[in-house]
Amino acid sequence: MTTNTLQLLSPATLGDLELTNRMILAPLTRCRAGDRYVPQPMNVTYYAQRASAGLIISEATQVSRNGLGYANTPGIYSQEQIEGWKQITKAVHDKGGKIFLQLWHAGRVAHPDLLEEGDIPIAPSSILADYLADLPNGQFPHVTPRELKLEEIPLIIEQFRQGAKNAQEAGFDGVEIHAGNGYLPDQFLQDNSNHRTDEYGGSIENRARFLLEITQAAIDVWGKERVGVRLSPSSTFNDMHDSNPAATFNYVAQELDRLGIGYLHVVEPRIKGNVTVEDDGKGLGAKFFRPLFGGAIITAGGYTRDTGEEALQNNTADFVAYGRLFLANPDLPKRFALNAELNKYNRNTFYTSGEEGYIDYPSLGDA
Ligand code: PHB
Repeated sequence: MTTNTLQLLSPATLGDLELTNRMILAPLTRCRAGDRYVPQPMNVTYYAQRASAGLIISEATQVSRNGLGYANTPGIYSQEQIEGWKQITKAVHDKGGKIFLQLWHAGRVAHPDLLEEGDIPIAPSSILADYLADLPNGQFPHVTPRELKLEEIPLIIEQFRQGAKNAQEAGFDGVEIHAGNGYLPDQFLQDNSNHRTDEYGGSIENRARFLLEITQAAIDVWGKERVGVRLSPSSTFNDMHDSNPAATFNYVAQELDRLGIGYLHVVEPRIKGNVTVEDDGKGLGAKFFRPLFGGAIITAGGYTRDTGEEALQNNTADFVAYGRLFLANPDLPKRFALNAELNKYNRNTFYTSGEEGYIDYPSLGDA
């Protein structure tokens, strides 16, 4: 495969945005925000180093203090945080890149140890995520969350709307809603975590309502083309399960199509959160969504240069997101262009603090 035939490196439009290539920096939790969950200078360096992606999708960013799921993840609910993100969007734009903010609420996957004194996680239903939480001092069981009262749900939707507005003020090019990996919107969607009997639970239409309402709120702020949604229908990470995922996600895809969002971002079945498994071919990946959704599709999950290119060539997706490879290779598009050797990623520093494993991966030509 020679460079000039590599579709991964061909320019593309995403809605009204011109992207220089089809390689996306996947949203990667890195747990390196500063005090009060404010982006800090080393975060600016990290994103600027990766500005040659066609599009950067930021790490999951909580829309409220209660939505925080891990140590030191950044927020988008305070003025200080907006100011911090401004440095990042400016640095990326100065290098010709584009960047979306990923709006996030961890729901039941938040842990009281990371929340404010006395606060407990919220969820559609009071059902424990039978899964271990990654905390700074090790892995610990989650706690049973508090069920959201019906009258509280509009308040959470407003947090997403405000997050979308704040992202605009911070200079982003758009927003992505994190509706995968067992976080709050996913907890509403799938029936092992949603036992509500009101209009937000029960039928598929009811379980999808929360996601569709926060998506509409983001569209109200940004316009439909600048909003994306990330789904991971086959992931069991964070104790997720649905009794009929094909029906649930078929409906979700069609409704998101009707809303006309810019893209759907699909985590392939071989990825379960931070673990890669054997793909049995039965899960719901980009191929499942292609006929159901008319906008652009981003596929994510353990792609290489060859398999990513193949996903574009065979029209499985329009864009390919790279996580681990982009983390370890800030100049990944250039390396793919040259078919150059890749730096190896170090899993031990994915979620640690500090510059090691964060901004010290070299680009080609670095001394
Ligand atoms: C996510 O935000 O989706 C996420 C965060 C940490 C992980 C895996 C997924 O280890």
